[in-house]
Amino acid sequence: MAYDVNKIRSHFPSLDTGLAFFDGPGGSQVPTVVGEAIARAISKPISNRNVVTESEKNAEEIVVGFRQAVGDLIDVDPRGVVYGRSWTQLTYDFSRTLAKSWGPGDEVVVSRLDHDSNIRPWIQAAEAVGATVRWAEFDLETTELTVAAVEAVLSPKTKLVAVTGAGNTIGTRPDLKAIGEAVHKAGALFFVDGVHLTPHAAISVKDIGADFFGFSFYKLMGPHCAVLAASPALLETLNNDKLLPATNVVPERFEFGTLPYELMAGCIAAIDFIAEMAPGAGKTRREKIVNSMNALEKYEDELMEYLESSVSALPGVTLYGRAKHRTPTIYFSFAGHNSADIYKAMAAKKVNVPASNFYALEVSRKLGLGDAGALRAGLAPYSTRDDVDRLVAGLREVLN
Ligand SMILES: Cc1ncc(COP(=O)(O)O)c(C=O)c1O
Repeated sequence: MAYDVNKIRSHFPSLDTGLAFFDGPGGSQVPTVVGEAIARAISKPISNRNVVTESEKNAEEIVVGFRQAVGDLIDVDPRGVVYGRSWTQLTYDFSRTLAKSWGPGDEVVVSRLDHDSNIRPWIQAAEAVGATVRWAEFDLETTELTVAAVEAVLSPKTKLVAVTGAGNTIGTRPDLKAIGEAVHKAGALFFVDGVHLTPHAAISVKDIGADFFGFSFYKLMGPHCAVLAASPALLETLNNDKLLPATNVVPERFEFGTLPYELMAGCIAAIDFIAEMAPGAGKTRREKIVNSMNALEKYEDELMEYLESSVSALPGVTLYGRAKHRTPTIYFSFAGHNSADIYKAMAAKKVNVPASNFYALEVSRKLGLGDAGALRAGLAPYSTRDDVDRLVAGLREVLN
């Protein structure tokens, strides 16, 4: 089934404002069904999760439904799905837990391509136990993070390799499957930040071979929260701090305190929405998701070509992402112009195109953009050619 962007757009009340949103990589807009699901969940009888009263059962049903929905979205065992407040929080928690088994002489690999949330927690966890950090570098010319660049810093001492599914500014999509194979050959764990990749592609964590994979729902048309998935067997081996009366079962022992059932209901609605975007002949929710995400990827790739070619025709522009396989996200600046000023001038034209390092601080510094970074324009399921035309026309005016 073809991807019908106008039909998709009709579900997003915030589009009625007339804003053109290129800030999807920072957080997407949300369809009505998600807000309704949150309101429904918090308005019906709800108590702490259990299976005795009607209100306990409502909470239980949401939690079980949440894990199943995530299982369908990224092809993981629902019993290994851990809810988190944000991806940064989850990475911090897991880095501290994993580091309990590391010591001096052990090594951890981080990549220069990553958002800081998949770098600094590992550096700090390694420092706390005297382990060593090694850096996998992306190539400045090609902006690729190659398997060879990761292999170059692997050793029998490597305990864990943390790599992003896609760079959240320059869009580079490393060959995760090949990197995962190299990581496992070295006997290490593979921790993948899927935050910028998951909104743009059908994901099978099983196929990628990641030991840990996660993403944030607010980049995926859902509420502001995140999730991490790992096999239940792997989670069982991890010894995390927890309260004495709290359950020791997996995945619950990684979810501290009471879960936000209403947000989890919103996440289920977001995944159901994705499944129905372009379900094709899919029968199961998983099949519909794969069809929808494949249709979206095709749509976004075509629009990305238009976006990139239109922006690259502007005077004095530098586009920083050059990798062969990229998300529909461009990172760019203009000679003689301050990116932050352009961001503000474009906001006045109702075009959201922010400028920052977007916490991909290592990328920004390596590209010579310092801590200020550049402009970022990212596509989302509701983006159109008209949005791109408004962006380009607005930039022309601002540059004049
Ligand atoms: C690639 C990537 N990783 C991690 C994060 C941080 O996610 P969260 O806000 O859920 O901590 C972001 C947010 O911008 C991101 O783009």
